[in-house]
Amino acid sequence: MIIAREQDVTVAATAVMERASDPRLREIMLSLVKHLHGFVRDVRLTEAEFREACAIVAELGQLSNDSHNEVVLMAGSLGVSPLVCLLNNGDEGNTETSQSLLGPFWRLNSPRVENGGSIVRSDTPGAALFVTARVVDHAGKPIAGAEVDVWHASPVGLYENQDPEQAEMNLRGKFTSGADGRFAFRSVMMVGYPIPTNGVVGRLLKAQSRHPYRPAHLHALIYKPGFKVLISQVYDPADPHIDSDVQFGVTKALIGDFVRHDEPHPTATDVGAPWYSLDYIYKMETGEAVLPRPPIK
Ligand SMILES: [Fe+2]
Repeated sequence: MIIAREQDVTVAATAVMERASDPRLREIMLSLVKHLHGFVRDVRLTEAEFREACAIVAELGQLSNDSHNEVVLMAGSLGVSPLVCLLNNGDEGNTETSQSLLGPFWRLNSPRVENGGSIVRSDTPGAALFVTARVVDHAGKPIAGAEVDVWHASPVGLYENQDPEQAEMNLRGKFTSGADGRFAFRSVMMVGYPIPTNGVVGRLLKAQSRHPYRPAHLHALIYKPGFKVLISQVYDPADPHIDSDVQFGVTKALIGDFVRHDEPHPTATDVGAPWYSLDYIYKMETGEAVLPRPPIK
């Protein structure tokens, strides 16, 4: 159609979106045009602002590489990633779920570690942390033979791939749950960390007077055929940013029972006080086991 006035653009774009033969693509693109055009009208977007917005979207891509994903950071900083997560899990957002954000730092092929082993691979500061966990199904029945990836930031606030001081795959490991659904490992107590602020996301946070911190958390990705892949983060309630996560990831179900111990460890003689323990139950939902694409290599 020949465009006569601004309303015609939406009519023309909508008509084209209708042509997709895939019904889901049609549904998504129709809604996208409806809301995008509505947004532009709502804020009366200026030409200068539109040019700036295009530059920002391009920059999000340019800043993303094998070890950093600015797009994922932005999605979390806008609350989109947690919304997608909660809409798609826990009975479509109606019940609590162990599911959380994947985040930008999961890597494929974490090294295998024996149950009870350590994931500390290079000299890492911080108090010792002993994690015991159980993988169960919806009814609380143990899931044996689940493959569990765990990863977390070091106490300096960096993942090993961000930090040349740490050994390759430091604070990452792959476990297999036992017959009772249990796995356990030793690490160091994690602390909260700021997300990278040297890009677009950093400029946004500054403009909104927001701090860049994520509360201390332990990541896990659990794979077992017959179950939806469980992507989880367990948070430390003692963290000062527990209720102001820059990525909006903290839900009640994800708050862990991190316990500080000031007495000597009963078995590990090299552990000084204080040390910490965490016991957590990961609940998997029945479904198709599809691994996500790793955000970094
Ligand atoms: Fe993280």
